[in-house]
Amino acid sequence: MNNLNDLNSLERIKANDPGGMLDALWKMPEQCEEALAIGRKTEIPSKYGSVSNIVVTGLGGSAIGGDFLRLYVTDKAGIPVIVNRDYNLPAFVDSKTLLFAVSYSGNTEETLSAYAQAREKGARIVALTNGGKLRQLAEGDGYPVIVVPAGISPRAATGYLLIPTLAVLEKLGLISGLAVELEELTRILRSLREQMQPEAPVEQNTAKQIAARFYGKIPVIWGVGGSTEVVAMRWKGQVNENGKAPAYWNIFPELNHNEIVGFEEPTALLGQLEIVLLRDTDDHPRVQKRMDISKDIIKGVVSGITEVRSQGEGRLSRLFSLTYIGDYVSVYLAALYGIDPTPVRNIDYLKQKLAES
Ligand code: F6R
Repeated sequence: MNNLNDLNSLERIKANDPGGMLDALWKMPEQCEEALAIGRKTEIPSKYGSVSNIVVTGLGGSAIGGDFLRLYVTDKAGIPVIVNRDYNLPAFVDSKTLLFAVSYSGNTEETLSAYAQAREKGARIVALTNGGKLRQLAEGDGYPVIVVPAGISPRAATGYLLIPTLAVLEKLGLISGLAVELEELTRILRSLREQMQPEAPVEQNTAKQIAARFYGKIPVIWGVGGSTEVVAMRWKGQVNENGKAPAYWNIFPELNHNEIVGFEEPTALLGQLEIVLLRDTDDHPRVQKRMDISKDIIKGVVSGITEVRSQGEGRLSRLFSLTYIGDYVSVYLAALYGIDPTPVRNIDYLKQKLAES
């Protein structure tokens, strides 16, 4: 599909999505509700209380929930959180660390390596997975294992891979009020999906409109450090994995100290950049000003600039609403390129080659 009018053809959009990515997106509010119930059912040993830090270890679609958790907890609990996307864990991990080992497949080698290190260090481990070796090992070692349903791509399982970890934190008394936040979140997601569903025509569908702007261009997503940074990275990852296209991201205010200088040459290539500014009500007033000035600097140099605003009051709603819009954009971009969003051949190839050696 490469005619923009085709984004109004429901049959063509659906024919392009045999793996059901749009269906998984549509079900995200229900996924979040189910994920809360799954997390609440998890038995957490009493010795898991009073931790001094939290580590989420995972990769790709299984790590992004960790970033949401990090930003959410930073607001609510005076406890450091890091997300580890590596084979090795930082030296500070010890018996006072609460460590979530997250892998949807349960077979990601970096996560299994970090899990083994966490076990050696005596960390308080919770595994979050659909199965695979991680489930087998964690059950064998006697750690709590949260098992989430199979059948979707890890990147379409963000609710399953985030919300149970928040439910565990609530059980440990580190956060509170999760049900209220989730009620707002699912309400907003339900309203957004009506506006962005394949049946909604381009003229009324923000996600289709942004996908049309991305088509044939290089998207560059700018978020804000400590808040929408995770969303900027997610949009980039979704354009890569669903749209099979390049994209780049950066954050304010850091990009005002380097990247913003690089808009003079090569003019022909700069004209191919499609910039997205992720806006949130909670952005520091000076950062909002920086965004406005930066827009003026690059206006006329790049192909276009789109501003997307978060929705809701709670931090979870604000971050997730922006994420949800990007998820839909990436699937419509895949439709425009005539590409099935679901398969990730290059990731599979790498995993297979690494398993052979
Ligand atoms: C695939 C995807 C990938 C995987 C990553 C880790 O949809 O999003 O980024 O999440 O390769 O695999 P898992 O999640 O199985 O540990």
